[in-house]
Amino acid sequence: MKVFAYSVREDEVKYVEEFKNAQNICCDYVSEYPSMDNVNLAAGYDAVSVITNVITPEMYEAWAKTGVKYLATRSVGYDHFDLAIMKKLGMRGVHATYSPNAVANYTIMMMLMACRQMPFIMYKAGCQDFSLPGKIGKELSLCTVGIIGTGQIGETVIKHLSGFGCRILAYSTSQKEEVKKYAEYVDLDTLYKECDVISLHIPGSPKNYHLIDRNAIAKMKDDVIFVNTARGNVVDSEALIEGLESGKIGFAALDTFEEEVGLYYKNLEREQLVNRTRAILSTFKNVLLTPHMAFYTEQSSSDMVRTTMRGLRSFESNEECAVRISELE
Ligand code: COI
Repeated sequence: MKVFAYSVREDEVKYVEEFKNAQNICCDYVSEYPSMDNVNLAAGYDAVSVITNVITPEMYEAWAKTGVKYLATRSVGYDHFDLAIMKKLGMRGVHATYSPNAVANYTIMMMLMACRQMPFIMYKAGCQDFSLPGKIGKELSLCTVGIIGTGQIGETVIKHLSGFGCRILAYSTSQKEEVKKYAEYVDLDTLYKECDVISLHIPGSPKNYHLIDRNAIAKMKDDVIFVNTARGNVVDSEALIEGLESGKIGFAALDTFEEEVGLYYKNLEREQLVNRTRAILSTFKNVLLTPHMAFYTEQSSSDMVRTTMRGLRSFESNEECAVRISELE
């Protein structure tokens, strides 16, 4: 199989070299993001590999015309793929799986930073303001934490959080026995009403679009800590900003927000950003904004390359493979 990979970061190169040899795949790659200007680079390849890049309908069509049959995204989420167009063009797809510890650890770090007002403390320490007022924290161990979504990442967050001794409530459309050892499954309204900390671990699929809207925020406890390391489009940013302005939301720790498209992962230092949502969010002292990097560990970079290559190869070897995008099968 011949794979052409776009957006390959320097840290991924060694994994691409390792796994293409191990899996007997011919793989060429560039660091550039895919666009209409470089779709032709993939002509004659069986598969294209991307990360969470914007792909326009013309790009799918151009790839399909030159013989590309498979599309891989080196990310767990594949909400940036247009499954309807892929289906129409007869393209099949895979996504990645990687160590759930990466996002789970980062989520708990964000919860702790929010509870202890760490961004504000660090900012003040940088200005040599070592006073205490305004910096008092909450103990995560004394909080009731609500986890929305108990897939691999949500489940791992729950297991790790159990070591802190917090009370944990969970909501998911399907329940797991393993999760019940550490958390109590409740309905969403109960989770909103009872939790001091709420964290999202659901995909950015159409059914989850703006799950967190004005209505949901109104049901949350006053001063709630809200964490999103999942997908931006699950949250209505306007409603979130209103919640911060009114004080309903005590802290928002956001590794992702809906309007991030086009920003990450570019070095835009000293450039004027045209992004009102980010501009507003970054004015709050009780907001922690990070550039969608909860996934970014050595282990997950390696896993992302390995699992997508294995998934692509499975199309030719006809093996079952869990990373195939089932909606396209
Ligand atoms: C995912 O794997 O779905 C992520 O969120 C990380 C991606 C943006 C690289």
